[in-house]
Amino acid sequence: MKKVGVIGVGEYFPKKVLTNFDLSKMVDTSDEWITTRTGIKERRIVAKNEATSDLAIKAAKEALADAGLKAEAIDLIIVASITPDTQFPSVSCLVQKAIGAHKAACFDIEAACAGFVYGIVVAQQFIAAGTYKNVLVVGAEVLSSITDWEDRNTCVLFGDGAGACVLSAVKAGGIISTYLGSDGTYSDLLMLPAGGSRMPATCDTVNKHLHYIKMRGNELFKLAVNIMSAAANHVVEKAKIKTEEIDLFVPHQANVRIIQAVAKKLKISENKVYINIDKYGNTSSASTATALCQAVKTGRLRRGDLVLLDAFGSGLVWGACLIRW
Ligand code: ACO
Repeated sequence: MKKVGVIGVGEYFPKKVLTNFDLSKMVDTSDEWITTRTGIKERRIVAKNEATSDLAIKAAKEALADAGLKAEAIDLIIVASITPDTQFPSVSCLVQKAIGAHKAACFDIEAACAGFVYGIVVAQQFIAAGTYKNVLVVGAEVLSSITDWEDRNTCVLFGDGAGACVLSAVKAGGIISTYLGSDGTYSDLLMLPAGGSRMPATCDTVNKHLHYIKMRGNELFKLAVNIMSAAANHVVEKAKIKTEEIDLFVPHQANVRIIQAVAKKLKISENKVYINIDKYGNTSSASTATALCQAVKTGRLRRGDLVLLDAFGSGLVWGACLIRW
């Protein structure tokens, strides 16, 4: 089996910053509540007419440049998103068109906040099997488009952004172990009720705010801590290493208290945890993607380091991935 690694990373965030102070003028909340309960200080919000593919394309171009590859060299594009521009065609086809990756096959995956990790694992299978050489994986979201700006329980949490990476066969390092899991019995804890075949869009669904994220945060919190810890332990045990050997932990950025609780359970010290939730909030599938990219750009993640990606989201779905960078 070929060793598969990440050979380029990219990210893009919209320019507009929405601070906790701004939100305190929109709903009954405060900077103090949001900061202490979530760790979020601000998030990015798209401009008018800016959609998920616009962010995805910018992140993809940066990842290609970082990998030193032309778009024609990409064989497969996978975009993970719960907020595609349209129900169809896929965001990946829009990315293909914009970057000129005319040889690439394209599909989107929906694995909520774990989407980017799912994308990496899928890409790895295709490359290791020899089916494709270079795969572009993007996690991109415009969560502001499905956020109920009148619901203080959820509107303080989410933001927009995109992260991308290019995967190829590598001689040294690469993906060491992976793990994906799901539990559909918790599907009602976090969902967007209307707009699908179960409840097609009507004036009534719009009036009832059913096209927005509905979340039972409290119940999710405990599940997130336990499931992310278990997923991480899975890949660590599979790789026959100890969590203490991990150089950088890049978790899904849903809540800083979840991240800290998972790191504590895993015995990973604070200085080895990458956190950017303060600046961007929860960007779902873009979260681990942008965090990974920023960790590389800022020198927190260097060649030879052992990095652990770990994500969890609606479904429920989860995934972890251990990579020798
Ligand atoms: N400002 C002020 N008060 C608020 C706000 C707010 N923005 N939101 C809720 N409150 C109030 C509640 O009404 C409640 O008041 P009450 O006690 O009078 O009823 C009180 O604060 C406590 O509410 P809780 O929900 O218990 O607060 P908690 O500490 O659990 O924090 C949070 C809520 C931040 C949502 C947390 O539960 C969380 O992060 N959950 C996990 C989210 C998650 O992991 N999602 C999955 C991934 S996301 C994805 O897949 C897209």
